[in-house]
Amino acid sequence: MFTSDKRVAVLVSGRGSNLRALIEAQSAGHLGARIVGVFSDKATAPALDLARAAGIDAQALAARDYYDRLAFDEAMFELIDALQPTLIVCAGYMRIISSDVVERYVGRMINIHPSLLPSYQGLRTHERVLRAGDRVHGASVHFVTPELDGGPVIAQTRIDVTRDDTPETLAQRLLPREHRLLVATVELACRRELMATPFGVAIDGHLIEAPLRLDEHNRLIGADGHAV
Ligand code: GRF
Repeated sequence: MFTSDKRVAVLVSGRGSNLRALIEAQSAGHLGARIVGVFSDKATAPALDLARAAGIDAQALAARDYYDRLAFDEAMFELIDALQPTLIVCAGYMRIISSDVVERYVGRMINIHPSLLPSYQGLRTHERVLRAGDRVHGASVHFVTPELDGGPVIAQTRIDVTRDDTPETLAQRLLPREHRLLVATVELACRRELMATPFGVAIDGHLIEAPLRLDEHNRLIGADGHAV
Protein backbone atom coordinates (compact mmCIF):
# COMPACT_ATOMS: atom_id res chain seq x y z
CA MET A 1 0.00 0.00 0.00
CA PHE A 2 1.15 3.53 -0.74
CA THR A 3 2.25 5.24 2.48
CA SER A 4 4.27 8.35 1.55
CA ASP A 5 2.90 11.57 3.03
CA LYS A 6 4.38 13.65 0.19
CA ARG A 7 1.74 15.45 -1.82
CA VAL A 8 2.41 16.76 -5.32
CA ALA A 9 0.36 19.33 -7.27
CA VAL A 10 1.03 19.57 -11.01
CA LEU A 11 0.49 22.63 -13.24
CA VAL A 12 -0.09 21.99 -16.94
CA SER A 13 -1.16 23.87 -20.06
CA GLY A 14 -1.20 21.30 -22.85
CA ARG A 15 -0.56 17.75 -23.93
CA GLY A 16 0.55 16.40 -20.54
CA SER A 17 3.18 13.82 -21.50
CA ASN A 18 5.26 14.81 -18.44
CA LEU A 19 2.17 14.48 -16.27
CA ARG A 20 1.56 11.05 -17.78
CA ALA A 21 5.10 10.01 -16.82
CA LEU A 22 4.48 11.16 -13.24
CA ILE A 23 1.17 9.29 -13.07
CA GLU A 24 2.79 6.12 -14.42
CA ALA A 25 5.61 6.38 -11.88
CA GLN A 26 3.07 6.84 -9.11
CA SER A 27 1.09 3.80 -10.27
CA ALA A 28 4.29 1.74 -10.37
CA GLY A 29 5.12 2.91 -6.82
CA HIS A 30 8.27 4.75 -7.98
CA LEU A 31 7.34 8.34 -7.27
CA GLY A 32 7.40 8.35 -3.48
CA ALA A 33 4.52 10.80 -3.54
CA ARG A 34 0.86 11.14 -4.36
CA ILE A 35 -0.35 13.49 -7.08
CA VAL A 36 -3.16 15.28 -5.25
CA GLY A 37 -4.25 17.72 -7.93
CA VAL A 38 -3.67 18.97 -11.45
CA PHE A 39 -4.26 22.61 -12.36
CA SER A 40 -4.37 24.40 -15.69
CA ASP A 41 -4.81 27.80 -17.28
CA LYS A 42 -6.41 26.01 -20.26
CA ALA A 43 -9.72 24.21 -19.77
CA THR A 44 -9.13 22.26 -22.99
CA ALA A 45 -5.68 20.94 -22.06
CA PRO A 46 -5.53 17.19 -22.83
CA ALA A 47 -3.48 16.88 -19.62
CA LEU A 48 -6.67 17.48 -17.62
CA ASP A 49 -8.31 14.43 -19.23
CA LEU A 50 -5.26 12.34 -18.39
CA ALA A 51 -5.51 13.40 -14.75
CA ARG A 52 -9.24 12.74 -14.52
CA ALA A 53 -8.84 9.32 -16.15
CA ALA A 54 -6.35 8.51 -13.39
CA GLY A 55 -8.82 9.64 -10.74
CA ILE A 56 -6.90 12.82 -9.90
CA ASP A 57 -8.67 16.06 -9.06
CA ALA A 58 -8.17 18.38 -12.09
CA GLN A 59 -9.21 22.02 -12.27
CA ALA A 60 -8.82 24.85 -14.78
CA LEU A 61 -9.21 28.60 -14.44
CA ALA A 62 -9.49 31.05 -17.36
CA ALA A 63 -7.39 34.21 -17.31
CA ARG A 64 -10.21 36.20 -18.94
CA ASP A 65 -12.27 35.77 -15.77
CA TYR A 66 -9.74 37.73 -13.71
CA TYR A 67 -8.86 41.39 -13.55
CA ASP A 68 -5.11 40.88 -13.98
CA ARG A 69 -2.29 38.35 -13.77
CA LEU A 70 -1.96 38.64 -10.01
CA ALA A 71 -5.69 38.11 -9.42
CA PHE A 72 -5.59 34.99 -11.62
CA ASP A 73 -2.54 33.59 -9.84
CA GLU A 74 -3.97 34.31 -6.39
CA ALA A 75 -7.10 32.36 -7.34
CA MET A 76 -5.09 29.51 -8.85
CA PHE A 77 -2.78 29.17 -5.85
CA GLU A 78 -5.71 29.33 -3.44
CA LEU A 79 -7.02 26.18 -5.13
CA ILE A 80 -3.57 24.62 -4.98
CA ASP A 81 -3.04 25.54 -1.31
CA ALA A 82 -6.33 23.89 -0.42
CA LEU A 83 -4.76 20.54 -1.32
CA GLN A 84 -1.72 21.25 0.88
CA PRO A 85 0.95 20.02 -1.55
CA THR A 86 4.48 19.53 -0.30
CA LEU A 87 5.77 20.08 -3.86
CA ILE A 88 4.36 21.97 -6.85
CA VAL A 89 5.52 20.79 -10.27
CA CYS A 90 5.20 22.94 -13.40
CA ALA A 91 5.08 20.35 -16.18
CA GLY A 92 4.48 22.25 -19.38
CA TYR A 93 2.73 25.14 -17.62
CA MET A 94 3.11 27.90 -20.19
CA ARG A 95 1.87 30.86 -18.21
CA ILE A 96 4.19 33.25 -16.39
CA ILE A 97 3.36 33.34 -12.68
CA SER A 98 3.46 36.73 -10.90
CA SER A 99 6.61 37.38 -8.88
CA ASP A 100 4.57 38.14 -5.76
CA VAL A 101 3.07 34.66 -5.87
CA VAL A 102 6.28 32.87 -6.92
CA GLU A 103 8.14 34.40 -3.95
CA ARG A 104 5.85 32.52 -1.55
CA TYR A 105 6.74 29.13 -3.04
CA VAL A 106 10.50 29.37 -3.64
CA GLY A 107 11.98 26.02 -2.68
CA ARG A 108 8.63 24.24 -3.05
CA MET A 109 7.96 24.71 -6.77
CA ILE A 110 9.95 23.19 -9.66
CA ASN A 111 9.75 23.44 -13.44
CA ILE A 112 10.96 21.33 -16.36
CA HIS A 113 12.55 23.31 -19.16
CA PRO A 114 13.82 21.91 -22.49
CA SER A 115 17.35 23.32 -22.47
CA LEU A 116 20.59 23.08 -20.55
CA LEU A 117 19.95 26.09 -18.34
CA PRO A 118 21.24 28.75 -17.94
CA SER A 119 21.42 28.52 -21.73
CA TYR A 120 18.23 29.20 -23.66
CA GLN A 121 15.76 30.48 -21.13
CA GLY A 122 12.36 31.09 -22.70
CA LEU A 123 10.72 29.60 -25.78
CA ARG A 124 11.79 27.79 -29.02
CA THR A 125 14.83 26.22 -27.37
CA HIS A 126 15.35 23.45 -29.97
CA GLU A 127 15.40 25.93 -32.82
CA ARG A 128 17.85 28.21 -30.98
CA VAL A 129 20.20 25.31 -30.17
CA LEU A 130 20.35 24.37 -33.85
CA ARG A 131 20.84 27.94 -34.99
CA ALA A 132 23.77 28.32 -32.59
CA GLY A 133 25.36 25.11 -33.90
CA ASP A 134 25.50 23.48 -30.45
CA ARG A 135 26.62 19.85 -30.32
CA VAL A 136 24.81 19.09 -27.06
CA HIS A 137 21.27 19.84 -25.96
CA GLY A 138 19.20 18.79 -23.00
CA ALA A 139 16.60 19.55 -20.37
CA SER A 140 16.73 20.94 -16.85
CA VAL A 141 14.59 20.76 -13.75
CA HIS A 142 14.98 23.91 -11.66
CA PHE A 143 13.43 25.67 -8.72
CA VAL A 144 10.99 28.34 -9.80
CA THR A 145 12.02 31.87 -8.81
CA PRO A 146 10.77 35.23 -10.09
CA GLU A 147 13.38 35.16 -12.89
CA LEU A 148 11.82 33.23 -15.78
CA ASP A 149 13.65 29.86 -16.16
CA GLY A 150 16.35 31.40 -13.95
CA GLY A 151 16.07 29.54 -10.63
CA PRO A 152 18.73 27.16 -9.25
CA VAL A 153 19.06 24.06 -11.43
CA ILE A 154 18.58 20.73 -9.65
CA ALA A 155 19.20 18.22 -12.42
CA GLN A 156 19.80 17.90 -16.15
CA THR A 157 19.78 15.37 -18.94
CA ARG A 158 21.86 15.70 -22.11
CA ILE A 159 21.49 14.50 -25.67
CA ASP A 160 23.86 14.85 -28.62
CA VAL A 161 22.82 17.04 -31.51
CA THR A 162 23.40 15.48 -34.93
CA ARG A 163 23.90 17.20 -38.29
CA ASP A 164 20.52 16.00 -39.52
CA ASP A 165 18.53 17.23 -36.54
CA THR A 166 15.57 19.56 -36.94
CA PRO A 167 13.72 21.26 -34.08
CA GLU A 168 11.16 18.46 -34.36
CA THR A 169 13.62 15.55 -34.17
CA LEU A 170 15.42 17.19 -31.25
CA ALA A 171 12.15 17.68 -29.39
CA GLN A 172 11.13 14.10 -30.12
CA ARG A 173 14.43 12.65 -28.87
CA LEU A 174 14.58 14.86 -25.80
CA LEU A 175 11.02 14.29 -24.60
CA PRO A 176 11.46 10.76 -23.19
CA ARG A 177 14.59 11.97 -21.39
CA GLU A 178 12.59 14.88 -19.95
CA HIS A 179 10.06 12.42 -18.58
CA ARG A 180 12.74 10.33 -16.83
CA LEU A 181 14.43 13.48 -15.52
CA LEU A 182 11.22 14.89 -14.07
CA VAL A 183 10.21 11.62 -12.42
CA ALA A 184 13.68 11.14 -10.91
CA THR A 185 13.80 14.72 -9.62
CA VAL A 186 10.32 14.59 -8.06
CA GLU A 187 11.23 11.27 -6.44
CA LEU A 188 14.45 12.83 -5.09
CA ALA A 189 12.62 15.91 -3.79
CA CYS A 190 10.25 13.63 -1.89
CA ARG A 191 13.01 11.43 -0.47
CA ARG A 192 15.65 14.04 0.48
CA GLU A 193 15.49 17.65 1.58
CA LEU A 194 16.09 19.91 -1.43
CA MET A 195 16.56 23.63 -0.86
CA ALA A 196 16.90 26.64 -3.16
CA THR A 197 19.62 28.90 -1.74
CA PRO A 198 21.19 32.09 -3.13
CA PHE A 199 24.24 29.92 -3.93
CA GLY A 200 22.40 27.12 -5.68
CA VAL A 201 20.69 23.88 -4.72
CA ALA A 202 21.34 22.17 -1.39
CA ILE A 203 20.54 18.54 -0.68
CA ASP A 204 20.13 17.70 2.99
CA GLY A 205 21.96 20.94 3.81
CA HIS A 206 24.91 20.45 1.42
CA LEU A 207 25.28 22.63 -1.65
CA ILE A 208 25.74 20.69 -4.88
CA GLU A 209 28.65 21.83 -7.05
CA ALA A 210 26.78 21.37 -10.30
CA PRO A 211 23.35 20.16 -11.41
CA LEU A 212 22.81 16.42 -10.94
CA ARG A 213 22.83 14.49 -14.19
CA LEU A 214 20.58 11.67 -15.29
CA ASP A 215 22.56 8.56 -16.18
CA GLU A 216 21.67 5.79 -18.64
CA HIS A 217 19.87 3.91 -15.84
CA ASN A 218 17.74 6.97 -15.12
CA ARG A 219 19.49 7.62 -11.82
CA LEU A 220 20.53 11.09 -10.70
CA ILE A 221 24.29 11.32 -10.31
CA GLY A 222 26.21 13.92 -8.31
CA ALA A 223 29.54 15.56 -9.15
CA ASP A 224 31.33 12.72 -7.29
CA GLY A 225 29.90 10.23 -9.78
CA HIS A 226 27.62 8.58 -7.24
CA ALA A 227 23.85 8.25 -7.30
CA VAL A 228 22.09 10.57 -4.88
C1 GRF B 1 7.94 19.97 -22.41
O1 GRF B 1 8.84 19.95 -23.47
C2 GRF B 1 8.47 20.81 -21.29
O2 GRF B 1 9.85 20.76 -21.16
C3 GRF B 1 8.05 22.19 -21.72
O3 GRF B 1 6.79 22.03 -22.29
C4 GRF B 1 6.67 20.70 -22.79
C5 GRF B 1 5.47 20.11 -22.15
O4 GRF B 1 5.09 18.89 -22.71
N1 GRF B 1 8.11 23.11 -20.61
P1 GRF B 1 3.94 18.02 -22.07
O5 GRF B 1 2.69 18.89 -21.96
O6 GRF B 1 4.40 17.56 -20.72
O7 GRF B 1 3.74 16.88 -23.02
